[in-house]
Amino acid sequence: MVSREAIHTLLYPNSIAVIGASRNPKKIGFQIVYNLVKDGYRGRIYPINPYANEIMGFKAYPSIKEVPDEIDLAVISIPADKVEKAVKDSIDKGVKALVVIASGFSEVGNIDMERAIVDIVDSAGVALLGPNVVGVLNTTHSMNLSFCPSLPYKGRITMITQSGALAIGLVGWTWANRIGLSKMVSIGNMAQIGFEEMLEYLEGDDDTDTILLYMESVKDGRRFVDVARRVSMYKPIVAIKAGRSVRGAKAAMSHTGSLAGDVKLYDVAFREAGVIPAYGLEDGFDKALALHLQRPMKGGNIVVVTNGGGAGVLASDFAEENGLPLKDLPSDLMNSVRRVISPFGSPRNPIDLTGNAYKDDYIEVLEKVLTHPWVDGVVAIYVHAAITDPLEVADGIVSVANKYPDKPLTMAMIGGREVAIANAWLRDNGIPVYPSPRRAISAMSALYQYGKFLNRQLPRK
Ligand code: COA
Repeated sequence: MVSREAIHTLLYPNSIAVIGASRNPKKIGFQIVYNLVKDGYRGRIYPINPYANEIMGFKAYPSIKEVPDEIDLAVISIPADKVEKAVKDSIDKGVKALVVIASGFSEVGNIDMERAIVDIVDSAGVALLGPNVVGVLNTTHSMNLSFCPSLPYKGRITMITQSGALAIGLVGWTWANRIGLSKMVSIGNMAQIGFEEMLEYLEGDDDTDTILLYMESVKDGRRFVDVARRVSMYKPIVAIKAGRSVRGAKAAMSHTGSLAGDVKLYDVAFREAGVIPAYGLEDGFDKALALHLQRPMKGGNIVVVTNGGGAGVLASDFAEENGLPLKDLPSDLMNSVRRVISPFGSPRNPIDLTGNAYKDDYIEVLEKVLTHPWVDGVVAIYVHAAITDPLEVADGIVSVANKYPDKPLTMAMIGGREVAIANAWLRDNGIPVYPSPRRAISAMSALYQYGKFLNRQLPRK
């Protein structure tokens, strides 16, 4: 079994050899060296290429074995049939971790070729990521060891993905949506390191507080459940299980050589392990963001506060569909809300402040709602009306929400450019905000499910 220390070296190496570092900017081996430099990697870099003397100003070596210094990690970007030799050379050199970018292994039926490499690394106690991966991105180590165009937006969510191409696309997405990542790790064929090993590592990773998985399959279902259940006690895990349809499962087979398995079994396993299921990328990031920024719900009572009647109706529908139906407010809460809202509004659940609501109206009502013991969570909705500035309302909401961190709050802000600016500000200030009621409710349902899991783990009285 691969050691924690070897996986740590994979994620935080101090020196890297790039085997297949190319002179051609259109090749992956060139981009890896380029990205390491461009995105600020501070360790030593050694290009390996038998046909080059120098690449991007670094002296190139014909073989890793000829590098005079110690090397922590080798990334291999040469065709599959040459990989085994490069792996052996790297191990002779003393590396502790390997990243194999090359495709052409078990995903296309070359199972023996992949097995041979795993046997070599296992007997040497070396960590192996891949083959068939895009690489490792670690924002806390300023390391873009991949052919992704840049590092993601910096934060504390770590994403483990079986699809490398998704990692490439999601880097830009994280910037556009202000979702901060600590690491993005592409695990491809999972010949040695899979979800189980990564979760075990992340349990003790100080730079990660929330984990997002893009999953087509697991190597060992029982072990996954055991590890995930243990990690979930401290860090929430969200999983996007792909290959849910018959056609999708077939596509997963040719993508990473994985058996997507019976989707119902995954649903049961996730429930048992406290893993929050997500349905697609957007939902995955929405839920991970809420779990990262807010505390889990302690019970099942949510209150919706809105300035748009229709948005409130939609939120009520989605809440019911997500297993969090809105209930009538306790009469004391309803009466105290009634006293402060417009006579045209509604003090029921959803509480409708009407389009005439200003920042102070949100503050006053949220203060009452968040301090009431019956309330476990709040979904605030704002529809951009000409009489209010979204940033001002956002500021009001942050000021109340921060006073009551034990009561989770998600938000929907509906509007155009000004709302997009307010949304970015809200996310930077700890509020998981989304462009629609459906997404704000779905994010709250993740806080509910996670809270329920944690409650189940408490010792029975
Ligand atoms: N050691 C070191 N360098 C070597 C070498 C060796 N044994 N053999 C060849 N090289 C050099 C080549 O000369 C070349 O450098 P140059 O361009 O300066 O001449 C460089 O290493 C790359 O080798 P090349 O044969 O040109 O390979 P390639 O870059 O065309 O393709 C892969 C290599 C790994 C990218 C390709 O085989 C592959 O698998 N692509 C798919 C990757 C992928 O999609 N992964 C999954 C992501 S989700």
